[in-house]
Amino acid sequence: MSNLYNTLPCHLAILAPFDKKKMKPLGKQTSLIKLFFQTALAHQIFCGVFSPKILSKNKSEYIGVFHDGSGWIESRFSRPKIIYDRYYSAMTGFDPGVERQKDNLAEKFMFLNPLKMARKVTDKHAFSELMKSMKIPSPVTVQAAGLSRGNMIRILKEIPDIIIKPRFGRMGRGIIRVKRNGNGYHIPFGKMCLILKSPDAAYGAICEILRGSNLEISHCMVQKTVKIPFIQDRYFDIRILVQRTDGELKPKITGSVARLSQSRSAVPNLDQGGLVMSMEQVFEKFCSGFQIRKIRQDIQQLALNSFDKMEMRFGKIGELGIDILVDNNLCPRVIEMNSKPGRIAFQRMASGFGLSADLRLKFQSVRDESIRNPMIYGKWLYDQVASPT
Ligand SMILES: Nc1ncnc2c1ncn2[C@@H]1O[C@H](COP(=O)(O)OP(=O)(O)O)[C@@H](O)[C@H]1O
Ligand SMILES: [Mg+2]
Repeated sequence: MSNLYNTLPCHLAILAPFDKKKMKPLGKQTSLIKLFFQTALAHQIFCGVFSPKILSKNKSEYIGVFHDGSGWIESRFSRPKIIYDRYYSAMTGFDPGVERQKDNLAEKFMFLNPLKMARKVTDKHAFSELMKSMKIPSPVTVQAAGLSRGNMIRILKEIPDIIIKPRFGRMGRGIIRVKRNGNGYHIPFGKMCLILKSPDAAYGAICEILRGSNLEISHCMVQKTVKIPFIQDRYFDIRILVQRTDGELKPKITGSVARLSQSRSAVPNLDQGGLVMSMEQVFEKFCSGFQIRKIRQDIQQLALNSFDKMEMRFGKIGELGIDILVDNNLCPRVIEMNSKPGRIAFQRMASGFGLSADLRLKFQSVRDESIRNPMIYGKWLYDQVASPT
C-alpha cells in the first residue's frame, strides 16, 4: 500500500536497515519499530522509517514507511528534523559505510542520541578510556589495541583471569574467558571447558575460537575479569534503562532487569541464549534483605550518575541502556552502555513463564514506557527545533 499523494508530517525519523523492494524495515528491530508506531499514533506523534541512504539526499520531502497496525505503508513525509537511530547491521552491528552516511546526516538533522556519544560507546577501547577519565567504576582494560601473539602470551603468563573481547561488540559473540590455575589455562567453550597446559597452547585455542566468530586477535582487547557471584553455574549482569521524556526534566530509570548466561557460558547476552530475571530475584539468591536494598540503590545511583556524566560530556541524551556487573564485594561496575537499547529483556519478563501476575504486569508497563519515552522525547526535541524560543 502507499500514500504517495499526501505528505505526512514527520516528528521523528526512525533510521533502520531497509528492504527497498518490499519497502519495509529489515532485521531484528522490525517488531520493536512496529510498537513505536503503535505508541506514537496514540500520542499523535508522526514517525516514519527511513533508510540512511534516502535521508542522505537533499530534499524537502522524503519517501519512507509507517505502520498502521496491519501493515507497512509507503508514504511521502515532510523533511524530518529529529533522527532516532535504530540501525543495526545484521552480522556485526557496525557497518563503516552506514556510519559515514550517518556523519552526513548529523550535519542536517538532530539525533535523539548524540552521534558522537553513540560512537564512543560502540568502541570498547574508547569507552574504557572514557569511563576511566570520568571516574566511573568499570573493568580494568589490560590492553586495548595492537594485540599480538607476543603481548597476548605475556598477558596469559602475568594475569590469571582475563576476558578477551572484540573491540566492536557483537552481541556477546567472540567473548572468551581465560582462567589460569595450577593445572593450566581454563577456557569455557560451548558446553565444554578446554584446559590448555601452556600459554602457547592457550593462545592457539583462543585464535581458533576467534576464527569461529570470524575474528582475529588484532580485533580484540583484553580486560581483567570482574569476579562476580554465580547463580548456580550461571553468570549474570544487570541492564538499567535510563531515559528522558523532556529536556528540562531529570532523566529517569525506566526499568531494570538481570540477564543470566547459559550454564557455564561467560556471556549473559540474550542473543547467546541468556535468561532473564528481575534484579531482586537474582540478589535474593545470595543477599540478605538489607543487602538487596543497598545494592539496588548503589546500582541505580551508578546508572543515574553515569548518565549525568555522559550528558555533561556529550549534551542531552534520549536513552541509554547501561550494563552493570556486580562483583563479589557487591560493588557495581559499568561494563557497557548501549545507545540503541533493545526492549527484549523487558518483553521476556512481561511474558515470563512461571512469574507472578504482578511481576508480569510490572514488566509489561516497563516495556510500554520504554517504548513510549523516546517517542515523547523525540516530539519534545521536534517542538524545540521547530519553534526556537
Ligand atoms: N571484564 C569483564 N569481566 C567479567 N565479565 C565480562 C567482562 N567483560 C565482559 N564480560 C561479560 O561478557 C558480556 C558481554 O560483554 P560486553 O562487553 O557487553 O560485549 P557485547 O557488546 O558483545 O555485549 C558482559 O555482559 C559480561 O557478562
Ligand atoms: Mg553487552
